[in-house]
Amino acid sequence: MDALELLLNRRSHPRLKAPAPSGRALDNILQAALRAPDHASLSPWRFIVCEGDGLVKLGALFEQSAIGHQKPDKEIERAPKLPLRAPMVIVAITEYKAHEKVPREEQLASTACAVMAMQMAAQAQGFNGIWRTGAYAHCPMVREALGLALEDEITGFLYLGTPMFETPEKAPLDSREFVTFWQ
Ligand SMILES: Cc1cc2nc3c(=O)[nH]c(=O)nc-3n(C[C@H](O)[C@H](O)[C@H](O)COP(=O)(O)O)c2cc1C
Repeated sequence: MDALELLLNRRSHPRLKAPAPSGRALDNILQAALRAPDHASLSPWRFIVCEGDGLVKLGALFEQSAIGHQKPDKEIERAPKLPLRAPMVIVAITEYKAHEKVPREEQLASTACAVMAMQMAAQAQGFNGIWRTGAYAHCPMVREALGLALEDEITGFLYLGTPMFETPEKAPLDSREFVTFWQ
Protein backbone atom coordinates (compact mmCIF):
# COMPACT_ATOMS: atom_id res chain seq x y z
CA MET A 1 0.00 0.00 0.00
CA ASP A 2 1.30 3.42 -0.98
CA ALA A 3 2.44 5.44 2.07
CA LEU A 4 0.38 8.52 1.25
CA GLU A 5 -2.69 6.45 0.49
CA LEU A 6 -2.32 4.81 3.91
CA LEU A 7 -1.91 8.15 5.68
CA LEU A 8 -4.94 9.62 3.94
CA ASN A 9 -7.14 6.58 4.47
CA ARG A 10 -6.13 5.27 7.88
CA ARG A 11 -9.12 3.81 9.70
CA SER A 12 -9.52 1.86 12.89
CA HIS A 13 -11.41 -1.40 12.91
CA PRO A 14 -13.02 -2.65 16.13
CA ARG A 15 -14.37 -6.03 14.92
CA LEU A 16 -11.38 -8.31 14.78
CA LYS A 17 -10.83 -12.04 14.31
CA ALA A 18 -7.86 -14.39 14.01
CA PRO A 19 -5.28 -14.48 12.66
CA ALA A 20 -3.37 -11.85 14.55
CA PRO A 21 -0.22 -10.54 12.92
CA SER A 22 2.70 -12.88 13.48
CA GLY A 23 6.23 -13.47 12.28
CA ARG A 24 7.50 -10.82 9.88
CA ALA A 25 4.21 -8.89 9.97
CA LEU A 26 4.37 -8.56 13.76
CA ASP A 27 8.06 -7.65 13.62
CA ASN A 28 7.21 -4.90 11.16
CA ILE A 29 4.51 -3.58 13.46
CA LEU A 30 6.87 -3.49 16.43
CA GLN A 31 9.66 -1.94 14.37
CA ALA A 32 7.25 0.75 13.19
CA ALA A 33 6.60 1.57 16.86
CA LEU A 34 10.31 1.98 17.47
CA ARG A 35 10.44 4.57 14.68
CA ALA A 36 8.28 6.95 16.71
CA PRO A 37 9.69 10.46 17.04
CA ASP A 38 11.74 10.40 20.22
CA HIS A 39 13.27 13.58 21.66
CA ALA A 40 16.79 12.88 22.97
CA SER A 41 16.47 9.21 21.99
CA LEU A 42 15.07 8.24 25.37
CA SER A 43 13.00 5.31 23.99
CA PRO A 44 10.38 5.97 26.65
CA TRP A 45 8.23 3.01 25.66
CA ARG A 46 7.49 -0.54 26.64
CA PHE A 47 5.13 -2.90 24.86
CA ILE A 48 3.42 -6.03 26.16
CA VAL A 49 2.12 -8.23 23.36
CA CYS A 50 -0.79 -10.30 24.67
CA GLU A 51 -2.10 -13.34 22.83
CA GLY A 52 -3.84 -16.54 23.90
CA ASP A 53 -3.43 -16.98 27.66
CA GLY A 54 -1.95 -13.49 27.75
CA LEU A 55 -5.35 -12.08 26.80
CA VAL A 56 -6.98 -14.12 29.54
CA LYS A 57 -4.39 -12.78 32.00
CA LEU A 58 -5.11 -9.21 30.92
CA GLY A 59 -8.84 -9.85 31.23
CA ALA A 60 -8.34 -11.19 34.76
CA LEU A 61 -6.64 -7.90 35.67
CA PHE A 62 -9.60 -5.94 34.27
CA GLU A 63 -11.96 -8.15 36.25
CA GLN A 64 -10.03 -7.60 39.49
CA SER A 65 -10.05 -3.88 38.78
CA ALA A 66 -13.82 -3.88 38.22
CA ILE A 67 -14.35 -5.83 41.45
CA GLY A 68 -11.97 -3.53 43.34
CA HIS A 69 -13.86 -0.48 42.14
CA GLN A 70 -17.17 -2.08 43.07
CA LYS A 71 -18.49 -1.79 39.56
CA PRO A 72 -21.97 -3.13 38.75
CA ASP A 73 -22.21 -6.92 38.23
CA LYS A 74 -22.69 -6.46 34.48
CA GLU A 75 -19.40 -4.60 34.20
CA ILE A 76 -17.57 -7.18 36.32
CA GLU A 77 -18.92 -9.91 34.08
CA ARG A 78 -17.85 -8.02 30.94
CA ALA A 79 -14.36 -7.09 32.13
CA PRO A 80 -12.53 -10.41 31.53
CA LYS A 81 -14.03 -10.64 28.05
CA LEU A 82 -12.79 -7.24 26.88
CA PRO A 83 -9.32 -8.30 25.66
CA LEU A 84 -10.88 -11.29 23.90
CA ARG A 85 -12.42 -8.91 21.36
CA ALA A 86 -9.24 -9.35 19.32
CA PRO A 87 -6.67 -12.12 18.90
CA MET A 88 -3.93 -9.72 20.04
CA VAL A 89 -3.70 -6.73 22.36
CA ILE A 90 -0.52 -4.71 22.60
CA VAL A 91 -0.28 -2.71 25.80
CA ALA A 92 1.69 0.43 25.01
CA ILE A 93 3.31 1.89 28.11
CA THR A 94 5.11 5.19 28.44
CA GLU A 95 8.09 4.58 30.68
CA TYR A 96 8.94 8.05 31.82
CA LYS A 97 12.63 8.87 31.81
CA ALA A 98 13.64 12.01 33.70
CA HIS A 99 15.44 14.39 31.34
CA GLU A 100 16.02 18.12 31.65
CA LYS A 101 14.92 18.84 28.07
CA VAL A 102 12.20 16.27 27.57
CA PRO A 103 9.08 16.76 29.67
CA ARG A 104 6.75 13.88 30.42
CA GLU A 105 4.20 15.23 27.90
CA GLU A 106 6.68 14.72 25.08
CA GLN A 107 7.34 11.17 26.17
CA LEU A 108 3.60 10.45 26.25
CA ALA A 109 3.36 11.96 22.77
CA SER A 110 6.15 9.69 21.57
CA THR A 111 4.33 6.57 22.74
CA ALA A 112 1.12 7.88 21.17
CA CYS A 113 2.98 8.12 17.87
CA ALA A 114 4.17 4.55 18.36
CA VAL A 115 0.59 3.34 18.84
CA MET A 116 -0.58 5.01 15.67
CA ALA A 117 2.46 3.71 13.79
CA MET A 118 1.62 0.16 14.90
CA GLN A 119 -1.99 0.49 13.83
CA MET A 120 -0.94 1.82 10.45
CA ALA A 121 1.70 -0.88 9.99
CA ALA A 122 -1.03 -3.42 10.76
CA GLN A 123 -3.39 -1.85 8.23
CA ALA A 124 -0.63 -1.72 5.61
CA GLN A 125 -0.22 -5.48 5.91
CA GLY A 126 -3.90 -6.43 5.68
CA PHE A 127 -4.56 -6.45 9.43
CA ASN A 128 -6.09 -3.67 11.46
CA GLY A 129 -7.08 -2.71 14.95
CA ILE A 130 -8.23 -0.08 17.34
CA TRP A 131 -6.55 1.95 20.05
CA ARG A 132 -8.49 1.76 23.28
CA THR A 133 -7.96 3.09 26.77
CA GLY A 134 -10.83 3.42 29.26
CA ALA A 135 -10.86 3.21 33.04
CA TYR A 136 -8.64 0.11 33.19
CA ALA A 137 -5.78 2.06 31.61
CA HIS A 138 -5.78 4.37 34.61
CA CYS A 139 -6.54 1.88 37.38
CA PRO A 140 -3.76 1.73 40.02
CA MET A 141 -4.19 -2.03 40.37
CA VAL A 142 -3.77 -2.65 36.63
CA ARG A 143 -0.85 -0.24 36.53
CA GLU A 144 0.88 -2.01 39.40
CA ALA A 145 0.31 -5.47 37.93
CA LEU A 146 1.90 -4.30 34.67
CA GLY A 147 4.88 -2.89 36.54
CA LEU A 148 4.31 0.82 35.97
CA ALA A 149 6.15 3.37 38.08
CA LEU A 150 4.35 6.46 39.37
CA GLU A 151 5.06 8.66 36.34
CA ASP A 152 4.56 5.94 33.74
CA GLU A 153 1.33 5.71 31.80
CA ILE A 154 -0.65 3.10 29.92
CA THR A 155 -0.92 5.07 26.70
CA GLY A 156 -3.10 2.52 25.02
CA PHE A 157 -4.37 -0.98 24.53
CA LEU A 158 -3.96 -1.59 20.80
CA TYR A 159 -6.37 -4.32 19.74
CA LEU A 160 -5.09 -6.02 16.59
CA GLY A 161 -6.29 -8.74 14.27
CA THR A 162 -7.95 -9.40 10.95
CA PRO A 163 -10.95 -7.20 10.17
CA MET A 164 -14.22 -9.17 10.18
CA PHE A 165 -15.49 -7.11 7.26
CA GLU A 166 -14.29 -4.35 5.01
CA THR A 167 -13.63 -1.21 7.01
CA PRO A 168 -16.26 1.39 6.10
CA GLU A 169 -14.93 4.50 4.46
CA LYS A 170 -14.96 7.72 6.41
CA ALA A 171 -15.42 11.05 4.67
CA PRO A 172 -12.39 13.29 5.09
CA LEU A 173 -12.76 16.37 7.27
CA ASP A 174 -12.42 19.81 5.77
CA SER A 175 -8.95 21.09 6.61
CA ARG A 176 -10.21 24.69 6.45
CA GLU A 177 -12.02 24.13 9.75
CA PHE A 178 -8.79 23.39 11.58
CA VAL A 179 -6.03 25.14 9.73
CA THR A 180 -4.95 28.73 9.37
CA PHE A 181 -1.99 29.84 7.32
CA TRP A 182 0.42 32.50 8.50
CA GLN A 183 2.10 33.83 5.39
C1 LIG B 1 -5.83 8.04 23.39
C2 LIG B 1 -6.99 7.39 22.70
C3 LIG B 1 -7.83 6.57 23.40
C4 LIG B 1 -8.93 5.96 22.81
N1 LIG B 1 -9.73 5.13 23.54
C5 LIG B 1 -10.77 4.54 22.95
C6 LIG B 1 -11.58 3.62 23.68
O1 LIG B 1 -11.33 3.33 24.85
N2 LIG B 1 -12.63 3.06 23.05
C7 LIG B 1 -12.91 3.35 21.73
O2 LIG B 1 -13.88 2.81 21.21
N3 LIG B 1 -12.16 4.20 21.02
C8 LIG B 1 -11.10 4.79 21.59
N4 LIG B 1 -10.33 5.65 20.87
C9 LIG B 1 -10.71 6.00 19.47
C10 LIG B 1 -10.39 4.92 18.48
O3 LIG B 1 -9.06 4.48 18.60
C11 LIG B 1 -10.61 5.42 17.03
O4 LIG B 1 -9.69 6.43 16.71
C12 LIG B 1 -12.01 5.93 16.81
O5 LIG B 1 -12.91 4.86 16.94
C13 LIG B 1 -12.21 6.59 15.43
O6 LIG B 1 -11.92 5.69 14.42
P1 LIG B 1 -10.81 6.03 13.31
O7 LIG B 1 -9.48 5.88 13.98
O8 LIG B 1 -11.08 5.04 12.23
O9 LIG B 1 -11.08 7.43 12.85
C14 LIG B 1 -9.20 6.23 21.44
C15 LIG B 1 -8.33 7.05 20.71
C16 LIG B 1 -7.24 7.63 21.32
C17 LIG B 1 -6.32 8.52 20.52
